[in-house]
Amino acid sequence: MDNSGTLDSLAQELRVFRPLPQLVIEANVNPQELEAFRRQAAHDPLGYWEEAADELDWYKKWDRVLDDSDAPFCRWFPGARCNIVYNCLDRHIETANKNKLALIWEGEPGDSRKYTYYELYREVNRFAGALRTLGVKKGECVIIYMPPLPEAVIAMLACARIGAPHSLVFAGFSARALRQRIKDVEAKLVVTADGFYRNGQIIKLKPVVDEALVGGSADCVDSVVVVHRAKVDTDMQEGRDYWYDDVVRRERPESPAEVMDANDTLFLLHTSGATGAPKVVSHCHGGYMVGVHRTLTHVFDIKPTDIFWCTADLGWITGHSAVVYGPLLAGTTTLIYEGHPNYPQADRMWHIVSKYGVTIFYTAPTLIRMLMRFGPQYPRMHDLSTLRLLGTVGEPIGPETWLWFYRHIGRGECPLLDTWWQTETGMFMISPLPISLLKPGSVTKPLPGVEVDVVDREGASVPPGKGGLLVITRPWPAMMTGVFDPSAKAGGAGRERFAESFARFPGKYLAGDVAKRDEDGFLWIEGRADDVLNIAGHRLGTAELENAFRAHPAVAEAAIIGVPDKIKGEAAKAFIILNQGVAPSDELILELQNHMRKELGPVAVIKGVEFRDSLPRTRSGKILRRVLKAQETGESPGDLSMLEDAD
Ligand code: PRX
Repeated sequence: MDNSGTLDSLAQELRVFRPLPQLVIEANVNPQELEAFRRQAAHDPLGYWEEAADELDWYKKWDRVLDDSDAPFCRWFPGARCNIVYNCLDRHIETANKNKLALIWEGEPGDSRKYTYYELYREVNRFAGALRTLGVKKGECVIIYMPPLPEAVIAMLACARIGAPHSLVFAGFSARALRQRIKDVEAKLVVTADGFYRNGQIIKLKPVVDEALVGGSADCVDSVVVVHRAKVDTDMQEGRDYWYDDVVRRERPESPAEVMDANDTLFLLHTSGATGAPKVVSHCHGGYMVGVHRTLTHVFDIKPTDIFWCTADLGWITGHSAVVYGPLLAGTTTLIYEGHPNYPQADRMWHIVSKYGVTIFYTAPTLIRMLMRFGPQYPRMHDLSTLRLLGTVGEPIGPETWLWFYRHIGRGECPLLDTWWQTETGMFMISPLPISLLKPGSVTKPLPGVEVDVVDREGASVPPGKGGLLVITRPWPAMMTGVFDPSAKAGGAGRERFAESFARFPGKYLAGDVAKRDEDGFLWIEGRADDVLNIAGHRLGTAELENAFRAHPAVAEAAIIGVPDKIKGEAAKAFIILNQGVAPSDELILELQNHMRKELGPVAVIKGVEFRDSLPRTRSGKILRRVLKAQETGESPGDLSMLEDAD
């Protein structure tokens, strides 16, 4: 590969990196095939996705590929019957994959567990049986509030097997946030752990669930199943709480998969929207499985010998599509790690890569930036020669981080696949394949079957080199099947909130990102265009953060903006008007930071708090965050005007 050139020239996007010839020869999809897929998908998109669907097993095939008669509400593969878990497990145990490793887990203290496809199948069946015994029915929701443990994966698959939508809540969320999420989805059951290891300490988890459920405050929940991970003293409420080991012991390793309609809900996931409280996005068994399977196998060129490690927590969409469903659909081996990336020191990730012979390493720019700080001597301590592909997701990576990752982890030989997608898209949308030309910092081009555009505020395509709004111009199979706004569940707000994304430019899905296309048609994602922050790859709505601030008795008004951060990409800065009679102080800043942590969990890191007497507003009273941002960064607020409503 071409490795010369300076950082500056890369920043000017002048360089192109080519795959090694051997890699092109061995790739599952070679350049000619990729072009053929693109042509086919452009000419006959539904035929393209139908062929992708034919690669999976169905109890009954579809009446048609796409029903878009109620657009933007689309139904992919209507009439079809399937279960994604059948395709993740049952299908493989009929083949040579039966005794292949499906899941490798490494605990933070260095303990490890491995499951073959057959073993995972049996465990999932047992827990599926246990859920049925505990009274969970098809269509009833289960909350999974867990650290990365094999049982979290087992619980996801067991829910899907019995047709109970699961909803994962990241174990960093507070009791309050957990309670809200339990109530939003009216969960019948919560799966959790007694505690887990993080950065050399035991974090107790079960007490957070107890607090979330205290005094019947989420009385939809009948049972709590607790995995005995940390072996800490745990209060168990008689008749409500059960140890995981006890409930599975009684069950048989066979429990039939529910026959699901292709459009039945597989899972629900909270994510921050541009306005108001987090929204709840749903994905289904059929279209999601087709989109995720096709894109993951293409992008990551899955081979029988791969060990696939995506470092995302299970609680995000990446954990669903790229840790659990995608890799298992593809029949590869997926790896999960319980603990902190720097524990006991900054080589832990590389230690794991060499210990298990990881071949594909997929992570977030934030993690790379954090590890970069410690220098290349840490990766050099380990044999990383098994790696053949690298990937990133979640935020713009930028040429400098791209290059470091590419050179120091990928030896300048492993293609670095920067994948753009979202909770709402379910599957990878814009990404290179290993055989593609790469430009550091560019997500390259849409995958076959995906059509995007970069448009101005009127919806017209912008010319190359000019920034605009990223839109998706054609339905895709793994698109969200629904959204509801829990704060306004009654009045059909779900439909409205779903349609919101398609409202500005009819027929086009507005992704919420600013992007640019260059002369070669390569796409560059510049960041969010709306009031959503991206902190260390995690989405947080300014409205959510501001509401949480306002819940503090000292706060009269709050405005949040994103400010650049060297490691996290972006951080939140708060401008606060205090209530009459409250004096600003450093102690109050600390107290507010703790308050935010309690309200939303450690995800909500507030980097700076500034007290103000007033905030800039429009005549209609909306806070002008862009003015605050311009003051903070020294940019002209006019440059951002296309990103905001005209008023
Ligand atoms: O702003 C984009 C950013 O993450 C947002 C989606 O966040 P979420 O739904 O949490 O899903 C993240 C993981 C799939 C996008 O709107 N984003 C995602 N991938 C990239 C990205 N920004 C730049 N480059 C990417 N590769």
